[in-house]
Amino acid sequence: MNCGSAGSILALALCGGLMGSAAAEGPILTPPPPAAPRINGPRIYGARPGRPFLFRIPCTGQRPIRFSAAHLPAPLVLDPASGIISGATPKVVKTYRIRLSASNAHGKAEREFRLVVGDKLALTPPMGWNDWYTHYHRISDKLMREAAGAMIASGMADFGYQYVNIDDCWAVRPDSSDPEIGGAPRNSDGSIRPNRRFPDMKALAAYIHSKGLKAGLYTSPGPLTCARYEGSYQHEQQDAAEFARWDFDFLKYDWCSYSRVAGGKSLEDLQRPYRLMGSILSKLDRDIVFNLCQYGMGDVWNWGAEVGGNCWRTTGDLGLQKAAQLPGFYNIGFRNAAHFANAGPGHWNDPDYILIGSVGNAFRNDEPPKPTSLTADEQYSYMSMWSLMASPLFFGGDMNHLDAFTLNVLCNAEVIDVNQDPLGRQAGIVIKTGEEFVLAKPMEDGSLAVGLFNLTDAPRKVGATLAQLSFQQPRRVRDLWRQRDIHIEPGALSLSVPAHGVAFVRLFR
Ligand code: GLA
Repeated sequence: MNCGSAGSILALALCGGLMGSAAAEGPILTPPPPAAPRINGPRIYGARPGRPFLFRIPCTGQRPIRFSAAHLPAPLVLDPASGIISGATPKVVKTYRIRLSASNAHGKAEREFRLVVGDKLALTPPMGWNDWYTHYHRISDKLMREAAGAMIASGMADFGYQYVNIDDCWAVRPDSSDPEIGGAPRNSDGSIRPNRRFPDMKALAAYIHSKGLKAGLYTSPGPLTCARYEGSYQHEQQDAAEFARWDFDFLKYDWCSYSRVAGGKSLEDLQRPYRLMGSILSKLDRDIVFNLCQYGMGDVWNWGAEVGGNCWRTTGDLGLQKAAQLPGFYNIGFRNAAHFANAGPGHWNDPDYILIGSVGNAFRNDEPPKPTSLTADEQYSYMSMWSLMASPLFFGGDMNHLDAFTLNVLCNAEVIDVNQDPLGRQAGIVIKTGEEFVLAKPMEDGSLAVGLFNLTDAPRKVGATLAQLSFQQPRRVRDLWRQRDIHIEPGALSLSVPAHGVAFVRLFR
């Protein structure tokens, strides 16, 4: 059988029917991608006028694939072999309806791609990878390049994963005696210096871009980052300009030591550094997606968008969330779910990264990454919940040790379609008890994505009436993980769900 992009680890694994390797014992539910092309990822994309533009069309199917884009506005250009659109965004503010197509020996796929040129970025939740929970203080230029390579080779990019983001520990750590990371944190003109593990930031971003992917960076509004590396306090304008000069596309702005200089704890004190950086970024000649990281202080979901944030962490670190009866991600998920009314295109609640696969321990970050201890069903629940919550989808595990089971969780096109839906609604909470959690996300086409989560330690039926879901009898019900239609009884959606697991379906009118 021939399936997926030629050479992709995902295609090989799924076609070969490999079961989860070291990471998790459990069935692979995601069917292999068809040999014919399928265009994935966002259907709507925001960009500012006249800024550099880069987008690699996410598309599964056997390579070589030939791409075309009808009505692509100048000066954008498409490379038909790689599917990478580049150039500059048009200067005229409007919505451009581009018709993407992809064809190979097995067939042809078409999809409309709305390019909304205006002042909003991240019209769908950003997707990518962040190094923190794998590499911590060990991060280097080499590891970032390897991650970019793996994002393509694994097939993840064909499903919409796009950002390759450096977290803490790329700058100089002023109190370190290690010559690799210590030394002067800034040059005589005040410009920030990467540590020796990052010899050339501009070249690194260019390498990531050469694959059609985007590069992300991290700093703090305080004098030091959380890991005590140089922060941007009193250098905000200069650092933002430098990050743009290096051609980065994403900035995580982590509160950390800002408490020391904040002055107080009023709402205004909490907002000030983010308002400042948000305003600086909006005036740069480069689109930089702005991620607020301040752990939900001052109910950031109420004002994150207003200060220029494209997404904001709603809680503390997921990796530090201790498991109770349920693993930590459920707790973070429950808290994040409550803020559903505050999410929308260009401004998302961020419940932190997807910590599955081979991943480090945030309590003992000197230890190398290890296979997750989450069960297969817990991992399906994690990815389903994040998709329903329209959360940024950032994988946090090791890109150099991707296994078939992990890729099956991360790369299900119908699951990702829920996350990337152009309507941009976060799922509302339909039921929340000690045993059951039901989320429902209205989709642009009038369908409803529903997650039935079983919070108990034994299999059980989980359900909601159609009245509770505010939906009439659906004409079609799709099991999204298995990508097949199922039958339900009239009046209610009630399905058997494994312990700590999920039934993730989409109801069509
Ligand atoms: C904080 C953030 C994490 C990570 C670390 C880096 O804890 O919440 O996501 O960025 O800092 O030091």
